[in-house]
Amino acid sequence: MALDRYVITGKQRLEGRIRVSGAKNSSLPLLAATVLAEGTSTLLGIPELVDITHMIEVLKHLGCRVVRQDKAMHINAGGLEACEVDEGLMRQMRASNLILGPLLARYGRVKISRPGGCAIGSRPMDQHIKGLQLLGVKVKEKHGYIEAWTDHLQGADVYLDVPSVGATENIMMAAVLAKGITVLRNAAREPEIVDLQNLLNKMGAKVRGAGMDVLRIDGVERLHPAEHTVIPDRIEAGTHMIAAVMTEGDVVIENIVPEHLEPVIAKIRQAGAHVTLLDDSVRVQQWGRIRGVDLKTMPYPGFPTDMQPQFMAMLSCVEGTSIITETIFENRFQHVDELRRMGAQITVEGRTSVIRGVETLEGAFVEASDLRAGAALFLAALAAEDVTVLEKIDYIDRGYENLEQKYRQLGAKILRIHQEG
Ligand code: UD1
Repeated sequence: MALDRYVITGKQRLEGRIRVSGAKNSSLPLLAATVLAEGTSTLLGIPELVDITHMIEVLKHLGCRVVRQDKAMHINAGGLEACEVDEGLMRQMRASNLILGPLLARYGRVKISRPGGCAIGSRPMDQHIKGLQLLGVKVKEKHGYIEAWTDHLQGADVYLDVPSVGATENIMMAAVLAKGITVLRNAAREPEIVDLQNLLNKMGAKVRGAGMDVLRIDGVERLHPAEHTVIPDRIEAGTHMIAAVMTEGDVVIENIVPEHLEPVIAKIRQAGAHVTLLDDSVRVQQWGRIRGVDLKTMPYPGFPTDMQPQFMAMLSCVEGTSIITETIFENRFQHVDELRRMGAQITVEGRTSVIRGVETLEGAFVEASDLRAGAALFLAALAAEDVTVLEKIDYIDRGYENLEQKYRQLGAKILRIHQEG
């Protein structure tokens, strides 16, 4: 494993244009969905990221042929051979569990190694399993594996106790080939669900309601391959917006869907930053210090948990005090200790943190503990005085395509030090 690190010289004003890549969290279910049809589907705009490589490994392991040609990814799921994802592949990426729904729909059986918890929380799968059971799936959990099988999938009325993104996606992907109608209530409303609905419908499925909390899926006999372009990554876009604010810069962020960013834009504006929306881009300009704001993470269209660490980095060096409440994941304040090393004044009590804005952050040796914690420290380093050495940036590579190249073009001073571990 490579153990790369960034050496970042802070306080460089960022200026220019930056282009957002395709959404990682859309790409993963879209790739899994291609298994539902025989023949070659084409996905456009899939980012080159470590997590995507892992999902492709899963697909290849199952017998799919996958070819990347520039920005197009061709996936041929004609000759599926295996229905099992082993521990090695599963451990590399939790989202491999998105293969459950498609494999049950196409083959009626699947065995995956149960994903463990991760740095940010315990990550249960009870809602995925409950939904699939209601569709007629038998599930056995043994020796750390989930084994599931069914004679035929039957449409059902499913109510999710929490609007889980992954459970919504898995149940949708199973229900498209079930007999009869599935109604999924308290479904996740994230834009990535709408993107998945769009691909599934292009493949011949009948899914309605994505973006709202009730989905109706009329099962069909079979699906055919399709071509689809992935939506832009709203979390990447939000991260760039904060970088512009924190460096008192002037940055145009291209390839965005403004509605997807509404919760983030509302909070950045509330803090006093200057945001101008254009058609498919947004300009963020900042002069002077912004002020503290309180926020609470919620399922979409609430404030995204995946932007919470980056916001905390920003709120560390504003005028006044902010309160952040994390309601989605129980352990998502791992960046706090590292931000404190950079001079931030943050206290944590359970799921709430209080951030007293300091005049400026200072460079330090810090370490990423997960993807978005890494992004938060990256942002803090851009705004800090002197040099920051950010370790374990492999986490950042999981979710940000060409990060240092993109930021160098804006004027950031970043060096990647490569080291074999
Ligand atoms: C997805 C995103 C992740 C994001 C998260 C929340 C992908 C690949 N990842 O993860 O970046 O942080 O949504 O926006 O899209 N839960 C249960 N039971 C379940 C499933 C989930 O209780 O069966 C709970 C979780 O513990 C968590 C909440 O539901 O508290 C949200 O999790 P979920 O929406 O499932 O997250 P993921 O789909 O794993």
